[in-house]
Amino acid sequence: MAERVAIILAAGVSSRMNTQLAKVLHEVCGRPMLAYVLDACREVEVGKMYVVVGYGTEQVREQFGDADDIVWVQQDEQKGTAHAVLCCKEHLGDFEGETLVLCGDGPLIRATTLRTLIKEHEAGQSAATLATAILDDQNGYGRIVRDAYDNIQGIVEDSDCTPEQLAIKEVNPSYYLFDNKILFEAAEKVKPDNVKKEYYLTDALSLIIATGHKVVAVTAVRPEEAMGVNSRAQLSEASKIMQRRIQKELMENGVTIVDPDNTWIDIRAQIGQDTVIEPFTYIHGEVEIGQGCRVGPFAYLRDGTVLKNGVVLGVFTEVKNSTLSDGVRVRHHSYIGDAAVGRNVNIGAGSITANFNGKKVNQTNIGDDCYIGSGAVLIAPLELKNGSHIKPGTVVSQEEIDKFGRES
Ligand code: UD1
Ligand code: CA
Repeated sequence: MAERVAIILAAGVSSRMNTQLAKVLHEVCGRPMLAYVLDACREVEVGKMYVVVGYGTEQVREQFGDADDIVWVQQDEQKGTAHAVLCCKEHLGDFEGETLVLCGDGPLIRATTLRTLIKEHEAGQSAATLATAILDDQNGYGRIVRDAYDNIQGIVEDSDCTPEQLAIKEVNPSYYLFDNKILFEAAEKVKPDNVKKEYYLTDALSLIIATGHKVVAVTAVRPEEAMGVNSRAQLSEASKIMQRRIQKELMENGVTIVDPDNTWIDIRAQIGQDTVIEPFTYIHGEVEIGQGCRVGPFAYLRDGTVLKNGVVLGVFTEVKNSTLSDGVRVRHHSYIGDAAVGRNVNIGAGSITANFNGKKVNQTNIGDDCYIGSGAVLIAPLELKNGSHIKPGTVVSQEEIDKFGRES
């Protein structure tokens, strides 16, 4: 088996996103776009990933910097995708093996597609293989131009297409696998002869074909995975597609999602069997939900929420950075932040943890089998012993408890 590396292009400025943030850091269902691309590479045993960064380098490195399978490559001026590849020359110029080239703005990529690409490439002993997609709306993508025998002749960028080429439905999602030596030889020969005056990686492919090397285009990408995110509208579309994937997997794992279109679940969330997610639930961040829970409608679960088994979380309830043990019930209009709630606790309507005192966020610990009446304000930091009974409408502070033992 050939040794394999990946070059991931992520240096672009992204004028179409109209953003100060590096494009690849924009999130899709809770993770930056680049994270998905890196993970897809990791799944197909890529040794090292050379990530080409330029615009917002510091921001990007700060988020991913400590991964030891990433080599950061700087591209100071964004002169095009072939130029970006050439920036890796000092690392990869002499490398003999396979090089995947992918874009950091393609979060919908899946490892299975990369596996198909690798299989076809190795079976065909090709110089380059690319995975293509057939789209209903091919606008904006490079078009795959084939000859009468269906062999790929080259890729023509949208802005350089003739009217006939514009009608081609087969596009380039930018998933390529190259013989590394051939890639660098061709990239060096690319000229910026196009409307945008950029050095196009797609031209490197045409050059490889023109030199007589074997290049294969396999239609292996489903339309919904082909999307590159160039605008905020595409970011939201990509998020929708990813959301469907996340929910499909959860449902396969035994989670009921009553109304998938009106539910939002972060990719980092874990949800156990026979839990029911009611409509208008929003789950954001690292959230862990056990088995047999009922969440929503209109629940908001934030980072650090852990619901053990059989927890009931009702309407207009927000939970953040808190653990709710087995059998806890918080049915209506509550806020639970920075709390540890013991088993079988009932938290009445409108009760909240007042976890922020204007300076600092404080912790609330509630023992097992407590009853918190409606409209209670639990001022943190606070410890409630097992079996505490808080009357409806009470404002509870540690000082009061220590003084009067107000738990009754
Ligand atoms: C590119 C492809 C196009 C394909 C589409 C799929 C080229 C010339 N075109 O077009 O055929 O259909 O992707 O989404 O390759 N980048 C750099 N340095 C640069 C320029 C770009 O790192 O100098 C990075 C960008 O950050 C981005 C990726 O390369 O992640 C692709 O660049 P982008 O400008 O988005 O290319 P597209 O026009 O989308
Ligand atoms: Ca793009």
